[in-house]
Amino acid sequence: MAFPAGFGWGAATAAYQVEGGWNADGKGPSVWDTFTHQGGERVFKNQTGDVACGSYTLWEEDLKCIKQLGLTHYRFSLSWSRLLPDGTTGFINQKGIAYYNKIIDDLLANGVIPIVTLYHFDLPQALEDQGGWLSEAVIDSFNKYAQFCFSTFGDRVKQWITINEPGILALFAYDLGMFPPGVPHFGTGGYQAAHNLIKAHARAWHSYDSLFRKEQKGMVSIALFSGWVEPADPNSMADQEAAKRAIAFQLDFFAKPIFIDGDYPEVVKSHVASMSKKQGYPSSRLPEFTEEEKKMIKGTADFFAMHYYTARLVKYRENEKGELGICQDAEVDFFPDPSWKSVDWVYMVPWGIRKLLKYIADMYNNPVIYITELGLPQKDPAPLDDTQRWEYFRQIFQELFKAIQLDKVNLKVCCMWSLLDNFEWTQGYSSRFGLFHVDFEDPARPRVPYTSAKEYAKIIRNNGLEGCL
Ligand code: NOJ
Repeated sequence: MAFPAGFGWGAATAAYQVEGGWNADGKGPSVWDTFTHQGGERVFKNQTGDVACGSYTLWEEDLKCIKQLGLTHYRFSLSWSRLLPDGTTGFINQKGIAYYNKIIDDLLANGVIPIVTLYHFDLPQALEDQGGWLSEAVIDSFNKYAQFCFSTFGDRVKQWITINEPGILALFAYDLGMFPPGVPHFGTGGYQAAHNLIKAHARAWHSYDSLFRKEQKGMVSIALFSGWVEPADPNSMADQEAAKRAIAFQLDFFAKPIFIDGDYPEVVKSHVASMSKKQGYPSSRLPEFTEEEKKMIKGTADFFAMHYYTARLVKYRENEKGELGICQDAEVDFFPDPSWKSVDWVYMVPWGIRKLLKYIADMYNNPVIYITELGLPQKDPAPLDDTQRWEYFRQIFQELFKAIQLDKVNLKVCCMWSLLDNFEWTQGYSSRFGLFHVDFEDPARPRVPYTSAKEYAKIIRNNGLEGCL
């Protein structure tokens, strides 16, 4: 089971989840600083990322983990408000630049390729105060920030992700109000935010394309989350259609405009429009792109970056009462097969990743694919011997192998989420996704490899599963 020569084996983190140093050296507050400091039990035990893994001061410890694994790629994110404390280039924090320069230089000196995410959920609070992703003004701020990053780090960083999981962000932050700013706008805010996120991504891609690509020769994409879905009753036409809609609302919603034609999937447009009508809205709650915007958005990704965690069965559920919400618009019910084992929301369905990869290859013209996240949590406290979790990862790697060999999917890189146990958003430190255990009670935040880390290191060394447990 040897993977193609040069296959990339990585691990990922994100700034707010690992760095700490929330107000160190001139960093401005992000929405997650504000949200966690407000308390109110919206985050498990009111935990915060104030210290997290301490990576702001302990980067060298992270580097040791990266070297121990033998990673070829390391994906991390830049904290926008560490670099630009109020979100604008009006004031640039040199200490922030120095921190990321060191990470990038150390990675390259050790032969590790950086994959850098510009924005992973932690919007500068100053921009949220002006409306955040509900306001079009943020698009310009994001574009300027992206240009600043390309010009500051792009001589060395060649693989960029503009935005992490715009779908999850739009849904959790602006529709359901579970993520900061914490205010729900059921059935409207998510679409409005998603609309602006897509335009912001496209603007940043064009900035790279016209101002930096020639000299820097890098690649820019956006990281999209999608679970896999199967119709609950494979013989039911309604369930089959519901499965298609479920993928259309979560994945194609972003991928179709960006990779194909600058516009949302028809099925999304028609469902939101007819539901809006039923609810008495004068027009669809889903905003429309102008023809000019469609042209601007189309073709703005140099590779396909995707995340896979889990799968669900789906059933058609008519939204009879016209309830407001994105799932309600899709008229889909999601639930697990009773035989699937789970940790939290992650039902372990290894074959789902192969199906998702095949779907992307078929639908999006066999693009180069990077899996920028893939993982399974353990509940706290987690045993260092996580052989059971490893068993799941091993099955996942077998599925990746089949996807490459049998389905001829153009998969080039796989990054595990995450290098370290870290701050898992509203679940705080109760959900441990790391390859390395972190002791959050100990000020030194020691990192200790789980069995999975040791086995993953073998996979990387052998470029395949040979010799693994
Ligand atoms: C995806 C997100 O990008 C990441 O921040 C999160 O920790 C993982 N999913 C696990 O939930």
